[in-house]
Amino acid sequence: MSYSADKKIVIAIDGYSSCGKSTVAKEIAKQLNYIFIDSGAMYRAVTLLFLRIGILNGKDLNMSALPEILRFIHITFAFNPATSHNDIWLNGENVEQEIRQLSVARNVSQVAAVAEVRRFLVAQQQEMGQSKGIVMDGRDIGTVVFPNAELKIFMTADARIRAKRRYDEMLARKEQVDFEEILANITERDRFDETREESPLRKASDAIVLDNSHMTRDEQFEWILEKVKERIIQT
Ligand code: CDP
Repeated sequence: MSYSADKKIVIAIDGYSSCGKSTVAKEIAKQLNYIFIDSGAMYRAVTLLFLRIGILNGKDLNMSALPEILRFIHITFAFNPATSHNDIWLNGENVEQEIRQLSVARNVSQVAAVAEVRRFLVAQQQEMGQSKGIVMDGRDIGTVVFPNAELKIFMTADARIRAKRRYDEMLARKEQVDFEEILANITERDRFDETREESPLRKASDAIVLDNSHMTRDEQFEWILEKVKERIIQT
């Protein structure tokens, strides 16, 4: 069977911080010739902008300035041939690297809990998925963004294993990192994401759980591809 068959579906991948959602989503999209959208990168880009202009100071967010600022945020994705990655651009600037810094990670869950921010980004995400053939990963993709997605996957893994993966990733980028700090950041974000009022992180009732604590990337990829195949045949 050809995976790039005419039949295009929507694949929603949600789950906890740093469990490799984007890595596997990107590989699946490449294999199927689908668009891959990292919705977390969009929340990170908005957070970066808020930090830069000072309406978020590490503690408080100036809510009164929000509507005006959201009007001037323009987010796009563009393929970077050097890395084969769909980089995120914020108002004409490639911020793919900068949004991965710990300073952004420390503040992003606070920003992502704001209803206005979510409304603003969810509308753009839904627009991107209109013609199907998309793999999107995040926290609310199967529950809010694409509740009718043909395939929903909820990814999870042991917190220490996730922290180790993120630690290795940052070390590879030659960043100064402390394992315990990363572990604390991901567990704190998980807690925040799960308990917020606006679109909390939770498994959609029709999502399939993938615990990848002890799986290789190839095994995860094969596992998801198998599910895609089933869904394409079924729908
Ligand atoms: O890469 P990692 O899994 O650590 O996080 P991410 O996907 O880059 O998302 C960063 C943060 O954005 C998450 O911790 C959530 O607070 C928020 N987020 C969200 O609320 N909804 C989404 N659809 C995606 C991300």
